[in-house]
Amino acid sequence: MTAIIGMVAVILAIIALSTGAILGQVLQDNLDKSVREAVSYVRLGLDSTAQGVLGSGPFADGTLLVTQTVIGGTTGAYVDGNTVRTLTDDEISAIITSVRDSSSDTVEIPELGDYRIQSLTVSGQEAVAVLGLPLSEITSTISQILITVALVTTGGLLLLSSIIAIVVRIGLRPLRAVADTATRVANVRMDSGDVSITQRVPADQTDESTEIGQVGAALNSLLEHVDASLSARQRNEELMRRFVADASHELRTPLASIRGYSELSLRDATLGENTHAALERIQAQSLRMTALVEDLLLLARLEEGTELVYGSVDLTQLVIEAVGDARPAGLEHRWVLDVDDDPVVLAGDASRLQQVIANLLANARTHTPGGTTVTVSVRRDGDEAELRVHDDGPGVDPAIAEELFERFSRGDASRARRTGGTGLGLSIARAIVQAHRGALTVQSTPGDTTFEVRLPARPADPEMAAQ
Ligand SMILES: Nc1ncnc2c1ncn2[C@@H]1O[C@H](COP(=O)(O)OP(=O)(O)O)[C@@H](O)[C@H]1O
Ligand SMILES: [Mg+2]
Repeated sequence: MTAIIGMVAVILAIIALSTGAILGQVLQDNLDKSVREAVSYVRLGLDSTAQGVLGSGPFADGTLLVTQTVIGGTTGAYVDGNTVRTLTDDEISAIITSVRDSSSDTVEIPELGDYRIQSLTVSGQEAVAVLGLPLSEITSTISQILITVALVTTGGLLLLSSIIAIVVRIGLRPLRAVADTATRVANVRMDSGDVSITQRVPADQTDESTEIGQVGAALNSLLEHVDASLSARQRNEELMRRFVADASHELRTPLASIRGYSELSLRDATLGENTHAALERIQAQSLRMTALVEDLLLLARLEEGTELVYGSVDLTQLVIEAVGDARPAGLEHRWVLDVDDDPVVLAGDASRLQQVIANLLANARTHTPGGTTVTVSVRRDGDEAELRVHDDGPGVDPAIAEELFERFSRGDASRARRTGGTGLGLSIARAIVQAHRGALTVQSTPGDTTFEVRLPARPADPEMAAQ
């Protein structure tokens, strides 16, 4: 817009200047005519003085005359209002010098300003005169015109730019609706859960016959498309979850019977040594598989949000018990408990939260060498309960740090094999914490690893409990 206004301003300036120039030329031609007319009034005789000549005829204000005659000598006069003023010798010689030095008919006369002049000679060089009329009137006329034009132009441009601004704003209003819609969509969380994009550009801003309306319509059809794709993805995820849940559920029964039969067969005293060992392997592996299937089922249900049983949970008590259980399992580790006397109580599913603590403690035991100190602390932090499991072991393997909480992500193979973990522990812990509307995070450098659980520590919310 500034460019348009600038261009208009330049064009107007050019028009004003050329008008000024043309007008100046016309006025100067008129002035020259007046000079010629005035010259025709000049009656020069041998004894004429400038004073006499100017006094005898109708000469305009500012008319200047210098005469040189045999008897009168060199004289100069100047019409100043109603009187004719004689010029001093100094003034006359200054005028003569200026006229002689000037190459055109415009001469700058000291004290009097610019003049158009004309010379005349009478009776064979015996009398000569120089007559001039002032240019000042033309100059002031032109500058007045230019000032007027400049003022009018500036005012016009200001008016024009405000009108353009208003018109543009009105014209672009549909774009604002598009931007608003885009911003609202950008604020919708789409990374998980039941996502649907209901925001649309209002129908009255999507007139397809205008370019701007087409932008709105295009955004709407894009949103339509994204919304449909998101619903499809959401449906797929749900089906997948259902499938995992159903599959794990279906696997439970055959697994139970494998376990049962291997247990039964192991009681048979007539078994050969090899068969006995093989049956023991079968039993151990079916136990491991049962644990895996239970974990998968739990994860699927947690994601469906159907798993938690809400009640009042004393987190401090849970931690004390969990550390008590961890001590005999990890005799080579130092276990430190850091809790307040005032118990931290919150609304949640006690057995699931216990599972979170047990998972974190098991990790601190199995993924660190003997001699490591594990510190477990619980405290209330405003509206939240904060549970921390800190250890000074080697820290999380950087190779998996990014996807630590993903399913089946485990540290380096040898360690994983030694500890026999499934890589589901942390994803279950996080799913449980998130189902409680909390957050599980980790910070780990060698010698300083902290898993932190933050849970809302307000009394049970009936709506949340109903989920
Ligand atoms: N306290 C810890 N110190 C070092 N590494 C850890 C710690 N806790 C977890 N990890 C790493 O995170 C991985 C994932 O943990 P998890 O999901 O519980 O699976 P699992 O314990 O079955 O291996 C582990 O394999 C381990 O490499
Ligand atoms: Mg684990």
